[in-house]
Amino acid sequence: MSKDKNMKVYRGELLHFIADPAKVTNEADSYQHFEDGLLIINHGLVEKVGQAIPLLATLPDDIEIIHYQDGLIMPGFIDTHVHYPQTEMIASYGEQLLEWLEHYTFPFERQFSDFDHGVKVAEFFLDQLLDAGTTTALVFGTVHKESVDAFFTVAQQKKLRMICGKVLMDQNCPDYLSDTAETGYTESKALIERWHKKDRLQYAITPRFAPTCSTEQLNKAGQLLNEYSDVYLHTHLCENKSEIEWVKALFPDSKGYLDVYDQSNLLGRRSVFAHGVHLHDSECQRLGETDSAIAFCPSSNLFLGSGCFNLKQAQAHDINIGFGSDIGAGTTFSMLSTLNEGYKTQQLRSDKLSPFQSFYLATLGGAISLDLEGTIGNFVEGAEADFIVLDYHATPLMDRRMQHCKTLTEKLFILSMLGDERHVKATHVMGERVK
Ligand code: GUN
Ligand code: FE
Repeated sequence: MSKDKNMKVYRGELLHFIADPAKVTNEADSYQHFEDGLLIINHGLVEKVGQAIPLLATLPDDIEIIHYQDGLIMPGFIDTHVHYPQTEMIASYGEQLLEWLEHYTFPFERQFSDFDHGVKVAEFFLDQLLDAGTTTALVFGTVHKESVDAFFTVAQQKKLRMICGKVLMDQNCPDYLSDTAETGYTESKALIERWHKKDRLQYAITPRFAPTCSTEQLNKAGQLLNEYSDVYLHTHLCENKSEIEWVKALFPDSKGYLDVYDQSNLLGRRSVFAHGVHLHDSECQRLGETDSAIAFCPSSNLFLGSGCFNLKQAQAHDINIGFGSDIGAGTTFSMLSTLNEGYKTQQLRSDKLSPFQSFYLATLGGAISLDLEGTIGNFVEGAEADFIVLDYHATPLMDRRMQHCKTLTEKLFILSMLGDERHVKATHVMGERVK
């Protein structure tokens, strides 16, 4: 191999997933783990990953090697559901979903008609994500097209792989936040033309949720999905019991909440539904057979008192699943803290969420949910080199706990129980260090 200034080489303990731990007989077959590994990057893409010693022999003698001692290199986290405009309203007290939206969220989102405001919040939001080790996210804007222009402008500057969309809502919301089926359609179309597949950016058609969308608007969303086969569909589903009752009353001709979306042809390989806390088996079956995804948002589900997601039920129906922070209903940007909450929601159900399963869902599982496997989520050859370095010793408590731990399983579990932004020593985007 000749020395190339576009080549970057990182050495350290290394972990990435190559399969779903829930689908292999032995969890150890789902990942590759190198105690002393090497990650070779060329032009921002993964060229090779493996044991350090044999790989070093293939490199020129004078190549610079960045050695992360006593840390764990893994792919950047993927947040499959988050609202950037809700950053500054995180931790708003005392309500469940519908009242929380009305009292806090809607008035707050009003400010995003201002492009400059959107830019300021997007800058802060993306820095928070990177600080937490999240390198890709599926992101809600607001109803204002300016909110999406602002978000993509900043994400593009930071060279990030980000997916965002303008919220569609034409009923049951304040006038100042309302579009129409027609303007929602034309504005989304213009945004797709402007941003979709520009650098690493991708567009998601984003009906807020069934209660705030007329059938005409949902049908127009389906029409757009049909016109642009590789954009995403991003919405909320079966989060809260009162919400579900409301959907039944608003759409008496549908078989259920999911069916409202299904009738407008919104399910599919690039469709991501946030929450799905209260799903019937028939709905899970439909999500599975259409290759749709669910964003599991435990921090939000606990904060809003929505319930505990039935991960086992979703897995039994072969639904794609990723983790979501759901800021500002979620209370943390940290994927490590989100894994902590996820574990506890499953404990409340008497189900075990293994550490391998958690880290899989936060990386490769998220990538598959976004139809981006091979591009992000692990270190296969040619993948974009977005990766992080976790620090086992960033806090005295974790440092002390780690002294009594022997296996990788234990180390991952402790990272997910005690970890947060402080344990993300470094974040890299396309091979370049940004934290
Ligand atoms: N359902 C509709 N809108 C929202 C939102 O902004 N946050 C959450 N958690 N659920 C929603
Ligand atoms: Fe949400």
